[in-house]
Parts: sequence; structure tokens; C-alpha cells
Amino acid sequence: MNKTILCIGAGYVGGPTMAVIADRCPDYKVIVVDVNVKRIAGWNSEKLPIFEPGLDEVVKRARGRNLFFSTDIVGGIKEADIIFVSVNTPTKTFGAGAGKAADLQYWEKTARDIIEHAESDKIVIEKSTLPVRTAAAMHRILASNSKKLHFEVVSNPEFMAEGTAIEDLQNPDRVLIGGMETPEGQKAINTVVDIYRHWVAPEKIKTTNLWSSELSKLAANAMLAQRVSSVNSLSALCEQTDANILEVSAAMGMDSRIGGKFLKAGVGFGGSCFKKDILNLVYLCEYYGLPEVAAYWEGVVKINDYQQRRFVNNMIRRMFNTISGKRIAVLGFAFKADTGDTRESPAINICKMLLEERACLAIHDPQALDNAKMDLDGVDGVIEYVDDPYEAVRGAHAIALLTDWKCFKELDYQKIYELMEKPAFIFDGRNLLDHAGLYEIGFNVYPLGQKAMSHLN
Ligand code: UDX
Ligand code: ADP
Repeated sequence: MNKTILCIGAGYVGGPTMAVIADRCPDYKVIVVDVNVKRIAGWNSEKLPIFEPGLDEVVKRARGRNLFFSTDIVGGIKEADIIFVSVNTPTKTFGAGAGKAADLQYWEKTARDIIEHAESDKIVIEKSTLPVRTAAAMHRILASNSKKLHFEVVSNPEFMAEGTAIEDLQNPDRVLIGGMETPEGQKAINTVVDIYRHWVAPEKIKTTNLWSSELSKLAANAMLAQRVSSVNSLSALCEQTDANILEVSAAMGMDSRIGGKFLKAGVGFGGSCFKKDILNLVYLCEYYGLPEVAAYWEGVVKINDYQQRRFVNNMIRRMFNTISGKRIAVLGFAFKADTGDTRESPAINICKMLLEERACLAIHDPQALDNAKMDLDGVDGVIEYVDDPYEAVRGAHAIALLTDWKCFKELDYQKIYELMEKPAFIFDGRNLLDHAGLYEIGFNVYPLGQKAMSHLN
């Protein structure tokens, strides 16, 4: 083996990233460690702890050959020359910066583990999203070791999206590697470049200084989320006029300067990154005395909250101003299709608002029901978690479609119509379904940012 790579944190980022690195770099030994014993057992089993298309095959090819999952963090630190850190960095819930700044306790704990157990120099790579200048703090903590070891901090942010993680990792638009502008920093950058050069073309590997690399991750996510909030804000205007958001998005997207991606109106963005990263950006701007810039980016999150509230208000208004005691089938709980992940999913807030209005919920999702149960644990109200979509809609007054799972398109809506109370309502929060066809069956159809199709007036 050429070198040993350790990854601390076997989550949505660490697991798939290391699986692809091991798969593409058979000359490296890759060890993935985590404090969570159950998670590691999952990675070593037939049923991996996360659902991600294509992940199973990659893991099966490399596991036991040069990819190992373990709870032996100390052993891993001693053995590896290169350490990726992909522990979680949630938004702080307490103290200074609560609700906005990143909670770095897991990161700092990891840095201290590295100092305590390392017996040789290491390259420490930030993989988790971190606020700009974290590397400086890490550098200081790592440099404070009394063993006279040298730790070089490199930033290598992850740009993969869930649901397409394996494809994004195998075929990235770019790989970003930031390091200190010193000879040691440049050497460390080159060590990380060598890993990616196994399968990524040189022109796609971009090296920068540490701060640019850290900020680029926040900036890219903020720009993507901003597009979603922009199009969602326009969807509200479309519903008040005769404009159709699908036509408006298509027309905007044909402008090559704008481009067609990330212009889909929906119930709002979710996922572990967008909200957290924007709030992080907001916090940084406030910290550096830039309140106007902070307010600008905070608006992106506010529109996202507004879009969810707007969706629920529309449901209530259309269903004769009350949903109390009415059964509502919620189709989709994951924050997007092809993942079981529900972190920051718009479905969480929407379901809570529906429950506050005393609706009875029957939630169906092909992958995310276990997470949905945890997210709504302790919330007052009637909630059923249903594996069969046809059981979820039985006796329902309305369907709220919240995730763009392809399989929802293939359901038998004639049968669904027959199973539901009448008048039957469909609120398509992702503009996924064939609205004209549903209207013909008899549904009252409420797409997003488009004219309602109702038999009621
Ligand atoms: C995002 C970034 O895309 C990725 O580069 C980064 O590494 C992590 O954060 P992810 O959160 O996995 O990835 O999913 P993404 O595909 O970006 O979708 C985020 C949210 O925006 C989802 O809830 C999705 O449904 C929503 N979205 C996306 C829209 O509502 N409309 C769109 O047009 C695109
Ligand atoms: P992400 O989406 O960023 O990958 P996850 O929450 O899915 O976030 O994964 C982060 C992982 O990091 C979790 O499995 C958690 O148990 C692990 N973790 C957190 N702190 C430590 C630590 N000090 N040492 C090892 N693993 C850690």
C-alpha cells in the first residue's frame, strides 16, 4: 500500500467519499472510523446505514480489500498519514451565535484526539463544511501539541449532493483543495491532489488558499439556495397572476448566462447544508461588521420559511378554511428524492403546521419513514406512518406531495381517487404529477406557481 488514509466521521459525507476514494485508489488503505458503534456495524453489514444509489456496489468492491470501517479511532490516528475529518458541524443551539454559527465541538474534539494519539506528522483535511477561518483555529490547536509534531491543515470541501453522491464523487465538476501558502502547505496540497488524480482530470482540480476554499463551499451552497428561493418567491407571484412558473423557469433557464438548473419551484429547500451554510455565512458577515450583506443572505432562508407557510395556508384556504380532523396523506418526507435523509426537510415544518391545525396525518415515504418518526417524535397530534401509499390515501381528504420521488408518478391515481373522501384535493408541492390527467379523474389540483384546477368553482 502506498499510504494510509483515515476518515473520522462515517456519515453521509465520510462514508460515500471514502468508499469512492478506496474504489479508485487501490494503492491506498482507507480506514473510516466513527464513535457511533451502530453506524460502523451498519457499514460492515449487508444493509448500509445510508441509502444512496450506487453506494452498495462501490462499498462491496472495496470493503475488506483496502476499505475498512472501524471504531478504533486511536489505532486509525496512529496508522494514517492523511486524516480526513468529516464529523458533523450542526448549527449552534446555545450561547454566542446560537441559531447561526456552526457548533464546532465535534471538530475540536477530533483535533484534540489527533494531538493526543498521533506519533508522527499528519495532514489533516477539513471535509465537513466549516466557517471560514476554522482552519486557522485548527492550526493553532494542532500546533499547540507538546510532541513537536507537525500537522498541516488542508481544506477539501465536499460538493456532492445526496441522491447523486456516487455520480458526483466519480465525476465531479471540480475538486477544490485549499492550503497554507507555505512550502509545507503546498506539499500537503500536492499530497491530496495525488489522491484525486487517480480519477479526476487535472483541469478539474483547483488549488487555492485555505480561506478561499472554505468560503467557496459556503458561497456555492448559498448561491444554489438563493436560486431556489428566488424561483419560489416568483412562484407566489405566478399564483396571483396568470403566469406559470414552469414556463417562467424554462424561459429564464434558456438564457445561457442563467442556466436551467436549480430553478424548480417547490415547497422549499432542505438538507443538511443549505440552511446551515447560509446561516453560517450570515453569522460571519455580522461578525465582520457587514450587516447589509448578512441581511441579504438571511432573506434566502426567510423566503424558504415563507414558502412552507404559504403552502400550508393555501391548503387550509382551499379546503374550506379548516383541516381540523381531516385526514391528509403526506406523500414524501425526505428533503429530496432518492435519499432517506430528512435533515431540514420542508416536510418537517409542513407536517408540524398541519398538526397544529389538528389535521390527521398519514405519512408515506419509500425510504424516510424511520427518520420521519424520529423527527416528529413527541409532536402532538394524530400521525400514522404508512408503508403502502394506497393505505395512506384511504379516507384522506387531501394529498400533500412534498418530495419529488419518481415512484409517485407511477401510482394509480384513478384507484387513489376512489379511495379518498370527496371532494378530493391534491397539493403538488413539487410540480411532479400530471395535473391535467388528475383534474380529469376528478381531483381538485393545486400545483405550485401555476393556476389551480378546481371543480369547485
Ligand atoms: C447540496 C449541494 O447541492 C451540494 O453541492 C453540497 O455538497 C451539499 O448541499 P444536497 O443538500 O444533498 O446538496 O441537495 P440539493 O440537490 O442541492 O438539494 C437541496 C434542496 O433544494 C432539496 O430540498 C431540493 O429539493 C431543493 N431544490 C433543489 C429545489 O427545491 N429546487 C431546485 O431546483 C433544486
Ligand atoms: P455529514 O452529513 O456531515 O456526514 P453525519 O451526521 O451524517 O454528518 O456524520 C457525522 C459523523 O461524525 C457521525 O456519524 C458522528 O457519529 C461522527 N462523529 C462526531 N464526532 C466524532 C468524533 N469526535 N470522533 C469520531 N466520529 C465522530
